[in-house]
Amino acid sequence: MIAKLHPLFVHLPIGFILISILIDWYRKKNMSIQSDKLSTFMWGLSALGSLFAMGTGVAALRSGYYEGANMFIHLICGYGIAALCTFLWFVKWKNKSFFKHQNGILKILLGAGLVVGGHFGGSLTHGEEHLPMPFEPKSDLTKIDLSAHDSINVYQDIISVIFTQKCNRCHEEGDARGRLNMTTEEGLLSDKYGDPAIAPSDLGNSEIYKRISLSTWHDKYMPPSGPPITYKEKKMVEWWILQGAPFRGNLRDLEISKDMKAFLADEYGVDLTKKSFYEKVNIDPLEPELFNAIKEQKFNITPLAANNNFLDISNHGQSKNITSERLDALAAAKEHLTWLNLSDTDLDDDGLRQIGEFINLTKLNINNTNVTDTGLKAIEGLNKLSVLNLFGTKITDAGLESLAGLKSLESIYLWQTETTSEGVEKLRAALPNCDINTGI
Ligand code: HEC
Repeated sequence: MIAKLHPLFVHLPIGFILISILIDWYRKKNMSIQSDKLSTFMWGLSALGSLFAMGTGVAALRSGYYEGANMFIHLICGYGIAALCTFLWFVKWKNKSFFKHQNGILKILLGAGLVVGGHFGGSLTHGEEHLPMPFEPKSDLTKIDLSAHDSINVYQDIISVIFTQKCNRCHEEGDARGRLNMTTEEGLLSDKYGDPAIAPSDLGNSEIYKRISLSTWHDKYMPPSGPPITYKEKKMVEWWILQGAPFRGNLRDLEISKDMKAFLADEYGVDLTKKSFYEKVNIDPLEPELFNAIKEQKFNITPLAANNNFLDISNHGQSKNITSERLDALAAAKEHLTWLNLSDTDLDDDGLRQIGEFINLTKLNINNTNVTDTGLKAIEGLNKLSVLNLFGTKITDAGLESLAGLKSLESIYLWQTETTSEGVEKLRAALPNCDINTGI
């Protein structure tokens, strides 16, 4: 705390010293006797103020936060100024003169000390950034832009860049203050010297998180000098720790909430809008015989788009009877089939078992059919499925358990099923990013 006051309190003696010099100058011009006492008093104040500034300065220095040649020059000037002011006060008080032009020479030295010491002091604190301010200071550090990256490693591409910009000059190999090296995984995770800097998933025991969450006035706040951590950087570090502080792997493989997706997009230009697999993969057109065989079985069949050979097949308005011949025709095109709509038919668990092999399905509508919990087990392996409509079936909570592993699911429709709100809550917990529509 005392150390943090130094940048504020150095300005006090500067004011006193200037006033003292002005008073002396005025007195000399007007030969006024009266102001002699005032001059002694002002030099006394200057001496006190500069000693106080020196004290807070030494406290700041002892914290180990400041470094380098600039610091040394600033320190010498600070000591010098305090000594000169004290001496000037003393000679005014006792009315003594030890050498010719004594006061003039001392004042010139004092002025030089103020200019040089002030300059190096200012550069130590990086302008006004070191003063604790209630707003975020502007920063000229490079912004992290990941818009052109396909694969993003949260640690390499974001977290370590923040650390490099704000922390590592005091926390690297060879200059690891507080015995903390923040440039390596081992250094960050080590608990050799008390709480580790990073405790995966545990903010309360992560020393780094604790330090950057303190008030900027606090002695232990990090970084102690230089541009502070911004609110957004802190949010990013917090999220990374809560994710288990992964050092490897792709950001896209993490489960990311909607809020965080928006934040990552805004802050780092990360585009997380997922492309469906059928937009990323090319497939040759289905052979015409197979295509026609499906048509003959009275299905509506269309490619997804002019340049996309995956198939959208539906039974809309056709026979409600899903026979095994009809399903066999579909099975012959199982790699092409990505949207399948068999709603309002007599599809049963046996039929669904066959559909469980259509590995490229992304949308499956089997609402108002005869499928049950038993049949749902068959689709546990459809790991590209994103939309599943079970509206108006006899599905119960037991059936929902078969869906809990389908992490690709984005929407499930469950109106008029036999599921309960407990079962749905359980599924929500297993699939936090999936919209589960129960019609209520
Ligand atoms: C100007 C130098 C400097 C900068 C920049 C700096 N630190 Fe520090 N840090 C220190 C010093 C000195 C200590 C040891 C004294 C203490 O514990 O307060 C320390 C200690 C720490 C500790 C405690 C280590 C332990 O186990 O005792 C953590 C954690 C820490 N810093 C994190 C950070 C983070 C995070 C940043 C960047 C946002 C940062 N520091 C930037 C100087 C610095």
